Amino acid sequence: MGARVLAQPYARRDGALWCEGVPLEAIAAAVGTPAYVYSANALRERYRALDAALAGVPHRIHYSLKANSSRGLLEVLRAQGCRADVVSGGELMRARRAGFAPEEIIFGGVGKTRAEIRAGIAAGVLLVNVESGAELAIVEEEAKSLGVCARIAFRVNPEVYVANAHEFIATGSRGHKFGIPWGDVPAVAARALASPHVELAGLDMHVGSQLTSLEPYEDGVARLAQLARDLQRQGASLRFFDVGGGLPARYDAEEPPDLARFAAIVVPVAASLGLELIVEPGRFVVAESGSLLTRVLYRKPSGGTDFLICDAGMSELLRPSHYDAYHAIEAVRPRGGTSTVDVVGPICETGDFLARDRVMDDAAPGDLLAVRTTGAYGYVMALTYNTRPRSPEVLVDGARWAVITRRETLDDLVRLEAATLEWTEG
Ligand code: LLP
Repeated sequence: MGARVLAQPYARRDGALWCEGVPLEAIAAAVGTPAYVYSANALRERYRALDAALAGVPHRIHYSLKANSSRGLLEVLRAQGCRADVVSGGELMRARRAGFAPEEIIFGGVGKTRAEIRAGIAAGVLLVNVESGAELAIVEEEAKSLGVCARIAFRVNPEVYVANAHEFIATGSRGHKFGIPWGDVPAVAARALASPHVELAGLDMHVGSQLTSLEPYEDGVARLAQLARDLQRQGASLRFFDVGGGLPARYDAEEPPDLARFAAIVVPVAASLGLELIVEPGRFVVAESGSLLTRVLYRKPSGGTDFLICDAGMSELLRPSHYDAYHAIEAVRPRGGTSTVDVVGPICETGDFLARDRVMDDAAPGDLLAVRTTGAYGYVMALTYNTRPRSPEVLVDGARWAVITRRETLDDLVRLEAATLEWTEG
């Protein structure tokens, strides 16, 4: 896509890898491994770059908490003026705890429960994104019982073709579970426009994640704009035009996202409709700020494969085994030379790997590795399978660092188990 290159938060100094002004070796020595590290300035820079690119139209950037919802990180983004996009009562709670005001929060999600919908309306979120006629009915009932008129947006399925994404992260094509199916929108809209309990204030789509081509946005925005015009003719007083998330991160040699071209697609359309533009980026904001630190436990040649068995695996980073995703892995202090290895974790699953058949820095037991671009969909997708506690998260800001999430303890893991059983008859 050819664009302004954003600063790289990780760099080598005296032969070792640093995050901003802090050596990763120092963090690993202090908090142990595995550990997730994030660069605060990378977060700020990406937020500001997107904000600047969209300057041509009134806009709001609602960071998608699903990518990484840790409070320390949310507070950095909020201080920049960033807003929040949540998809559960839990994320709503996290956004509020991190200081986001209700009117700075959008509440989406394909399967919100009645209780979650009620919590969102009662809190006074900016928009509840509705994904079906059946959900609209529940929103109406809950708004009525709370005695308010709920501000809603329709998340529609624009039913566009998305080429590049892994099939699990494409969302806006015909037949996906997300959004109001394109053909159902007129009927659901007629109902909303006639209801005294909801105000249809926006339209929303999300065509997919890690969109390395901007075409799906072009197609989706064109369809959403047509729909906005139709609804405006029918008397809807729309305020918001939400084009979702999906801007990509650089995991490998991909071109960085061209924010100017993205803006050239979405800004003129929102402006011509007279609507405020909303974007819901997750990965673009946080992915490249993060690295996962792991130590090599064993090196085991077996049946022709050279395994680096590490203390992190699919439980700390599910993306390689779940999406066959590529994450670069480098030695924090390379010992020289390369080898072809499978980087695997300690989990009792053959599918527990971080990289397969990878040519990378030669490494031996005790060596520290950095798995790169793990700021998004890393910690939030962590598992405790095999009763392994979740790892800590560390925020680096210039030459300082702080633990933003402590390492889970074994006691934490068994805290909810009943020691003696209270039986109920029946
Ligand atoms: N808005 C909506 C409605 C979404 O469904 C998503 C992501 C986003 C925003 C943020 O998308 P982003 O800007 O991060 O692409 N776990 C997968 C990604 C799942 C994304 C689901 N929806 C992965 O690790 O690749």
